Amino acid sequence: MKILIKNGMLVTAERTFAADIFVEDGKISRIENPGTLSVSAEKTIDATGLLIFPGGIDPHVHMHLPTPAGFSSDDFYSGSRAALAGGTTTLIDFVTPHRGEPLKEALEKRKAEAASCLTDYAFHMSPVEWRQHLPEEIKACITEEGIPSFKVYMAYKDSIGLEDDALQKVFYAVAEAGGMVTAHCELGDEIEQLRRDYVQNGQTTPEYHPLSRPAELEAGAVEKAIAMAARANCPFYIVHVSAAGSLEFIRQAQQRKQPVFAESCPHYLLLDDSRYKGSFEQTAPYVLSPPLRKKSDNRALWQALSDGTIQSMGTDHCPFMMEQKRNGLHDFRKIANGAGSVEHRLTLLYTYGVLQNKISLNRFVELISTRPAKIFGLYPQKGALLPGADADIVIWNPEKEKTISAQNHMMHCDTDIYEGFKTTGAPEYVLSSGHVVVENGTWKGKAEPGRFLRRKL
Ligand code: URP
Ligand code: ZN
Ligand code: ZN
Repeated sequence: MKILIKNGMLVTAERTFAADIFVEDGKISRIENPGTLSVSAEKTIDATGLLIFPGGIDPHVHMHLPTPAGFSSDDFYSGSRAALAGGTTTLIDFVTPHRGEPLKEALEKRKAEAASCLTDYAFHMSPVEWRQHLPEEIKACITEEGIPSFKVYMAYKDSIGLEDDALQKVFYAVAEAGGMVTAHCELGDEIEQLRRDYVQNGQTTPEYHPLSRPAELEAGAVEKAIAMAARANCPFYIVHVSAAGSLEFIRQAQQRKQPVFAESCPHYLLLDDSRYKGSFEQTAPYVLSPPLRKKSDNRALWQALSDGTIQSMGTDHCPFMMEQKRNGLHDFRKIANGAGSVEHRLTLLYTYGVLQNKISLNRFVELISTRPAKIFGLYPQKGALLPGADADIVIWNPEKEKTISAQNHMMHCDTDIYEGFKTTGAPEYVLSSGHVVVENGTWKGKAEPGRFLRRKL
């Protein structure tokens, strides 16, 4: 389909300028000065007064994630639909094999689960153990499957977490193969000890979730993992940074010119640990890892977004129904960990970042799209408003006001951790590979599933 988008204000990571865009066959074919494109379009969108961004890229989501309390409540279909409605057109999820399972086998299963995904999508591969032939498997992921990023967990040692010696070997193997390691940084053994201690003392409510995962144990893991990455000379991306103390180690590494990238999520900027005071029903939705921190951490993270210490904004989207949270009614360790926000990432960062002058509009685009695309080998197919790029385009109404609620969100979840948050700015149109999936602020639907994206760093 040929679509002309006229009179809009384009916003990229570098600049803001008026231009018209012509879309053909799912790609941006031309970008010209306003009024100068003489083309015959099947559809024309008048973007007067609207902003135009490259489609959002969420580099950290967990659709249909298996846990002891059941799967995360968004599958690839419902989660990707919510993502598109909120302006995110590309998702990066995870392949998490069982111990002993070959990486490629796990990848094939995950691709089948993701077949209903409406956005284009990619995966990070998670080695969950060290084994003799892992280096060859890692190499094959990069060269044969187009998966160059490998996610390791320093927490969750009883299931998917790695011991330090295994972790170091993974850094070496990934560096050797030309990939990147990403990590969940929390010191797992120390956390396990604290969790056991609290429960043995009868301290079993969600209030003890953050107390058993203190900020120092995140910062300590960040410091340790940065040292391992340096030893192996491996590019390193730290997911869901929540604590001011972690930022110090990240800054020092970046000042030494070590290739260290950092991601945070809206909940670490906008919510704090006061959410753990109250009844189980009030507090359990906020049980996610790392936990919410102090207001001072919120401030430090905003500063890090604006000064460039943090380059990427994910969501760690991992919603659960209240019934699944109730799995841990008598033991906070059994509460399904995670919360959803894939639908809200752009509007939250726009409302509470751009409109409150904490970040510029161009930095916003960099954080939600262009930089994740560059870091993870998707640019310029994704993350760009350029001829030849995929026509993943968000046409943004900067004035539209909404109130977030589980009553009207599209995510498949009966709670919303941002319930009652007021937002300004929302997608008026969303194009996904040239298909208009949101029109006049309303979800239109999408018949075609998205594509698996092969990546190269
Ligand atoms: O609580 C969370 N974040 N659940 C998802 C798994 C993870 O640690 O990213
Ligand atoms: Zn994590
Ligand atoms: Zn995660």
